[in-house]
Amino acid sequence: MKATARAHTNIALIKYWGKRDEEKILPTNNSLSLTLDGFYTTTTVTFNEDATEDTFVLDEQVVSGEAYERVSRYLDIIRRYAGKENIFADVYSINAVPTAAGFASSASGFAALAAAATRALGLDITDQELSMLTRQGSGSACRSIYGGFAEWEKGKKLDGSDSYAVPIVPANYWDVRVAAVVLSAEKKDISSRAGMKRTVDTSVFYQGWLNHIPDDLTEIKAGIMDRDFEKVGQIAEANCLKMHATTLGANPPFTYWHDTTMAVMQTVQTMRATGIPVFFTIDAGPNVKVLYLPEHEAIVEKTLQEAPGVSDVILSRAGNGISYI
Ligand code: ADP
Ligand code: DP6
Repeated sequence: MKATARAHTNIALIKYWGKRDEEKILPTNNSLSLTLDGFYTTTTVTFNEDATEDTFVLDEQVVSGEAYERVSRYLDIIRRYAGKENIFADVYSINAVPTAAGFASSASGFAALAAAATRALGLDITDQELSMLTRQGSGSACRSIYGGFAEWEKGKKLDGSDSYAVPIVPANYWDVRVAAVVLSAEKKDISSRAGMKRTVDTSVFYQGWLNHIPDDLTEIKAGIMDRDFEKVGQIAEANCLKMHATTLGANPPFTYWHDTTMAVMQTVQTMRATGIPVFFTIDAGPNVKVLYLPEHEAIVEKTLQEAPGVSDVILSRAGNGISYI
C-alpha cells in the first residue's frame, strides 16, 4: 500500500484562468503547457490500515492548516474513486521547486500525489483517468501527467468526466528551453485560485480574454507542430499579457507583477530587438519564465542574470511525464 511518484511542473503557454465549477475544478477555457525537467516534486504515499487520520510532511516539515486540509480532502476524492473510504495515508513529499511562489508547485505537487496515491491503492488507470483525477487537486496539475507539450481540454459535461489533459508532442519532439528568472521566492499574497476567482467574478476584461483563446490555441498548436519558435513565442507572450490584463480589470484590481517583473519583461524585449529570439511568460506570481532556443542559452542566461532584481536564473529543458520510483 505504498508508492512513490515524481511529477514535473509545467508552464502554461496558453493560460488556464478561470473556473466554471470551483468544486470540481472545471475550467472556462482550454490551456496548453510545456512540462519542465528543472522543477519537480517527489511524493511517497503510504496507506496504513491502523492510522486514524492522514499526515502530510512537505520538505521535512509537518504540515497543518489549509495545505494539509487540501491534501486530505484530495485523498478523500481518490479514496472514493477507489471505493476504499476508511483508510488513511502518510504523505511524504519533497518539492524541488519553490512552494507557492508562482513556480507551479501545486502542479507538480498534486500530479505526484495523484499518481502515488492511485498506485498505492493498486488502481490500474489510464493516463487520461489519472489526468482527470489530478485535475481535482489543482487544475494546472492535470497537464503534468504528460511530458513535452500538453493541452487541457476543458470539457462540456457537468460531472467533469471529459475535462482532462491530452499529450500533443513528447519532450524529445523539440528542444525548446525555459529560463526561470527568480525575483522573489516568497509566498505570494493572492493564490492563483483566489486570483482567478476574483477575475471571473468581477473583471470587466474577462469576456475579452475568453474570446481570443480558440484562435491562440489553433495558432500555437500549428507553431508547435512546425517547430516555429517565433510563432509559438509571440502567441505565448501575448496570451500571458492578456491574462494579466484581466487582473487589472478586476474589483478590487490587482497585479502579480513587481517592478522587477517589468524590468525583466523589458530585458527580454530588448534582447529580441537585438535579434535574439526570446519570449516571456508569467504565471500567478512576480517571476518570469523566458522561452529560448539552445543556441542562445549562454547569452540569455548572462543577460537575465544581469537584469535588475534578479536573484537566480534556473535553466530548464522540456521534461517528461509522471514516473514511478
Ligand atoms: P504555486 O505557484 O507554487 O503553484 P499556489 O498558491 O498555486 O502556488 O499553490 C501552492 C500550494 O500548493 C501550497 O500552498 C500547497 O497547498 C500546495 N502544494 C505545493 N506543493 C505541494 C506538494 N508537494 N504536495 C501537495 N500539495 C502541495
Ligand atoms: C496562472 O492550477 O494553481 O498558473 O486549479 O485553483 O489549483 P487551481 O489553480 P492553479 O492555477 C494555475 C494558473 C496559472 C495558469 C496555468 O497554469 O495555466
